[in-house]
Amino acid sequence: MEYRRLGESGLKVSAIGVGGNTFGNGADEGQTARIINRALDIGVNFVDTADIYSRGVSETYVGKAVAGRRHEAIIATKVRGRMGDLPNDEGLSRRHIIDGVEASLRRLGTDYIDLYQVHNVDPTTPIFETLAALDDLVHHGKVRYIGCSNFAAWQICEALWAADRKNLTPFISVQPRYNLLDRAIERELLPFCRQYGIGIIPYSPLASGILTGKYKPGEPPPPNTRAGRSPRLREQLTEDRLSRVERLAEWARERGHTAGELALAWLLTRREVSTIIAGATKPEQVEENAKAAEWRLTEDDLKQIDEILGVGERR
Ligand SMILES: NC(=O)c1ccc[n+]([C@@H]2O[C@H](COP(=O)([O-])OP(=O)(O)OC[C@H]3O[C@@H](n4cnc5c(N)ncnc54)[C@H](OP(=O)(O)O)[C@@H]3O)[C@@H](O)[C@H]2O)c1
Repeated sequence: MEYRRLGESGLKVSAIGVGGNTFGNGADEGQTARIINRALDIGVNFVDTADIYSRGVSETYVGKAVAGRRHEAIIATKVRGRMGDLPNDEGLSRRHIIDGVEASLRRLGTDYIDLYQVHNVDPTTPIFETLAALDDLVHHGKVRYIGCSNFAAWQICEALWAADRKNLTPFISVQPRYNLLDRAIERELLPFCRQYGIGIIPYSPLASGILTGKYKPGEPPPPNTRAGRSPRLREQLTEDRLSRVERLAEWARERGHTAGELALAWLLTRREVSTIIAGATKPEQVEENAKAAEWRLTEDDLKQIDEILGVGERR
């Protein structure tokens, strides 16, 4: 396994990580334990979860799965989403962040979180209040590093400025949606992260499974897949998209790889990417996904991939 620095920090994370929104939602407790243990066995150390994934169940399953191997894992979780019915049961106020971290630590069964991420912006809380609360958690040893998710470049810039101005711990990473079919971050966020040394943790790297080539044009999605379960994902399965992915899968197969490996290897060509959190419902998927770290795509490969996807055509 290849290890990369998370942004400009000294923390080493596996280039391929595991995403936890399937834990408690597609993978039960036993399956989550098998997925995470297989991941750790093959050197995948980065596990991403969030308080809101299955209302805390994902964190609980992650905690049970890593018990006894805590020192091998880098656990990333998130705070911001609604966890109860009261006004302060969500957001990025000092009040909710401190309640949130205590609850996450309890569910994870650990006394520290490696990377604590704010899940999205909270326009109702000053960034200084959020950063001061996170900085306290770092100084108390409950949290080792902090990051953000779904922030625009200017919002990270504002947070870096605020941290610098008040001598507070800065964000070292951002978690945006990024995959072969959704390159919106390439316009501004990606160059911003390159310039300021913020590590990118792309989410939905397989476009929720579409990029594995498991969905075929003109065929209904198999029932035991995410699109089989999710009408929202089924809406994204257009004929044009699935035909292009089919061609990508063929291109990868000719080179001895799967379509999913191609999608992940492509993300790893971006040096701003620190670790890729691919979701999984089976241990075999983690194994296959980890193989992507061994495939080095060339400049010529990247051009051919863009041609298949019609990237030039759309511009
Ligand atoms: N920060 C945020 O706002 C945010 C938002 C979304 C996600 N995330 C994070 O990003 C992670 C990944 O995102 P995601 O789960 O939405 O999308 P994803 O990683 O693009 O897709 C994961 C799905 O693809 C399928 N899959 C994975 N590996 C496969 C393989 N080798 N072969 C065939 N199918 C495979 C599995 O679905 P099936 O087996 O069920 O078909 C799996 O659940 C999440 O777990 C979460 O940690 C963060």
